[in-house]
Amino acid sequence: MKIIKSIRQMQSWAEQRRGRGKTIGFVPTMGALHEGHHSLMRAARRRCDAVVVSIFVNPAQFGPNEDYARYPRDAKGDAALCRLEKVDILFMPTAEAIYPEGHQTTISVKPLGDGLEGAFRPNHFSGVAAVVAKLFQIVKPQMAFFGQKDYQQTVVIRRLVQDLHFPVKIIVCPTVREKDGLAMSSRNRYLSSEGRRAARVLFKAMQLGRDQIREGKRNAAAVRNEMTRWIRQEPLAKIDYVAITHPETLEEVLHIKGPVVLLLAVRIGKTRLIDNLLLKH
Ligand code: PAJ
Repeated sequence: MKIIKSIRQMQSWAEQRRGRGKTIGFVPTMGALHEGHHSLMRAARRRCDAVVVSIFVNPAQFGPNEDYARYPRDAKGDAALCRLEKVDILFMPTAEAIYPEGHQTTISVKPLGDGLEGAFRPNHFSGVAAVVAKLFQIVKPQMAFFGQKDYQQTVVIRRLVQDLHFPVKIIVCPTVREKDGLAMSSRNRYLSSEGRRAARVLFKAMQLGRDQIREGKRNAAAVRNEMTRWIRQEPLAKIDYVAITHPETLEEVLHIKGPVVLLLAVRIGKTRLIDNLLLKH
């Protein structure tokens, strides 16, 4: 595995590979790698000739009062894990290189990026869209792999790729969970042992919602209320939102008939967790 920090070097490696007819699979991450990230690397390995993983904690997608400064960083540990996954290139650019002095260009994906996470994290998806667009220009992948864990992010990125005509196929991989259902996340390591126990409430609430819909409940507000009630029973949990939306438009659904996605964001102490469940009933 080769570690590349320079943008120009990354671009010329990608051009060479593509010149030789090889497919590049790309897994963008912010590091603090866990099994969820690994599943994306394996999916890329299966489908592509070469796998590029990027690690870049993107300042543009964090709000002023968010965890950018304390976001977990472990370059050495992450590099070792990528080596085990037979990653070809680990791309680790600096913030100065990605956002050169005087940069002005922004990308907004609206209204898709405005609701749900966007309502609680203004400019978050502009930051995500900007960095993903830049990384696509640098890594030049034919395929890029994202986790369903960040559901709204996958919808925003599909839109971005269509709108800006990126020749990149977006592959969304299933959410990897702990045994008790908690979705793996770099932020789980912020949780205390009590918080970790309380965090189970997210998956439980989604299961409850899923079961009610399976049993024939069609009033989305009623299902949402049940989920909310369940989460409120957990004293450490504070709800940001519980939503039932159309899987592609992310618009709130009133009457459930076709596929829907259950989405939630819950704070456990200072740790903000998100999760979702796609129901294609
Ligand atoms: P990060 O949170 O590091 O996640 C990188 C990728 O791993 C994302 O596609 C995310 O959805 C996926 N992922 C995280 N947890 C997962 C899980 N439990 N199961 C499956 N996949 C999971 O998402 C970002 O970084 C950034 O926004 C990024 C796209 C890199 C842009 O900065």
